[in-house]
Amino acid sequence: MAKNTLSFVCQNCGAAYNRWQGKCESCGEWNTLAEEDATGSVPVSIRSKRKGRTFALESLSGKTQDAPRLSSGMTELDRVTGGGFVRGSVLLVGGDPGIGKSTLLTQATSLMARAGHRIVYISGEEAIAQVRLRAERLGLSDAPVQLAAETSVEDIVSTLSEGAVPRLIVIDSIQTMWTDTVESAPGTVTQVRASAQALIRFAKKTGAAIILVGHVTKDGQIAGPRVVEHMVDAVLSFEGEGSQQFRILRAVKNRFGPTDEIGVFEMTGLGLREVTNPSELFLSERDLGTPGTAVFAGIEGTRPLLVELQALVAPTSLGTPRRAVVGWDPSRLSMVLAVLEAHCGVKLSGHDVYLNVAGGLRINEPAADLAAAAALVSSLVNAQLPTDAVYFGEISLSGVVRPVAQTPARLKEAAKLGFQRAVLPESARGEVGGDAGLSLNAINSLTTLVAEIAARGSRRGESSAPAEKNATPARFRRGEG
Ligand code: TYD
Ligand code: MG
Repeated sequence: MAKNTLSFVCQNCGAAYNRWQGKCESCGEWNTLAEEDATGSVPVSIRSKRKGRTFALESLSGKTQDAPRLSSGMTELDRVTGGGFVRGSVLLVGGDPGIGKSTLLTQATSLMARAGHRIVYISGEEAIAQVRLRAERLGLSDAPVQLAAETSVEDIVSTLSEGAVPRLIVIDSIQTMWTDTVESAPGTVTQVRASAQALIRFAKKTGAAIILVGHVTKDGQIAGPRVVEHMVDAVLSFEGEGSQQFRILRAVKNRFGPTDEIGVFEMTGLGLREVTNPSELFLSERDLGTPGTAVFAGIEGTRPLLVELQALVAPTSLGTPRRAVVGWDPSRLSMVLAVLEAHCGVKLSGHDVYLNVAGGLRINEPAADLAAAAALVSSLVNAQLPTDAVYFGEISLSGVVRPVAQTPARLKEAAKLGFQRAVLPESARGEVGGDAGLSLNAINSLTTLVAEIAARGSRRGESSAPAEKNATPARFRRGEG
């Protein structure tokens, strides 16, 4: 049926008419007719008034359900979101490029799609083939996720306005999106903000949850996800050391759940693996019996977490000694060092001090003070701490060990992992109901702890084991009362 005259073809359903009309009688759409020439392909003069064109989504299937929260199928992810994605909410997942954001979201969306939800994954960064390759590598090719490589917000909104409302839409990444409504180039603050606004409007209108992926960029050229943080309902940050396998998902802001909750993952050759017992992970490579290591019984969100603190205190060759710290607040280290000097007679001004939190974790709790002090003193006197002990407690400027929250949970986790004693604040002892399952060494002042470690150092010194020849307990023991 070759056409030899001009005809008007509906851009929605393909129905052809020999004169223009406002509504397509075949599909009922308005303003979708465009003039095409005899070759049937080139639309001329009359342009659709619709803002966005529609594009095909891969393998459309699935149905919507009415639960207010959509579980991601990944316990660690649900823990951070506060139990799943809330209808109509918008989440920002930020992180360094290459940290594994796309991997995490590919895994989560596949699980949700398999559970029968309509899930859409819009990639603005990678071609469909690349996304498919990743899914193949993760063994998730069969998941009925609807995929598109698109960057126009108008197109995305008009496409997704059709059919059943998706339960979740992933936009990877917000920096690649652009909207007609503003003139500036994709990736600029104006574009990122306007695109995010349009998508947020869509989420609120339809009830679909949206995840915006944002790269944290160090140079100011490309707008980082910070510019949309105030607009979204939750901000999750995906962190990890490049060289380390561990990835930590942290809720920085959450209108529908707790913040400070973390999810722990391990990047493997087959994608991200959920780590349900992170304490084992952070202790797994423990340098058992090395001076300078102490195990901290911490709390991340609602979950107890044991992690190893490593300290190295060595005589300095510099005028100003070095203080380097990874995974902890440098100003808290300075404070602990100052308290050790002022109240415990531990002289550190001639020493370089290095402190490291094992496994690439970042600790924010003041409760780590006591463990840090123990590790520092242990390294200074070259005396190993008991390998079956955990430490926690906040140190005040006066050298008093102050109580911290959730003592029972910390002790329980330590007992579960086979630790036998805990060094904790005296005032926290009252919180421990009944049998703690550990022998408790409750201390009131940092001086007590320093004296105990120094005693270990000197005892070992007397036994004249070769490794302890260099121990320097005498230097600071003169400061002990
Ligand atoms: P990706 O999810 O693309 O990071 P982002 O979206 O945050 O930029 O992940 C990139 C890195 O993860 C890449 O260096 C390869 C690594 N990776 C694995 O180690 N195993 C895997 O199964 C996958 C898919 C990626
Ligand atoms: Mg990516």
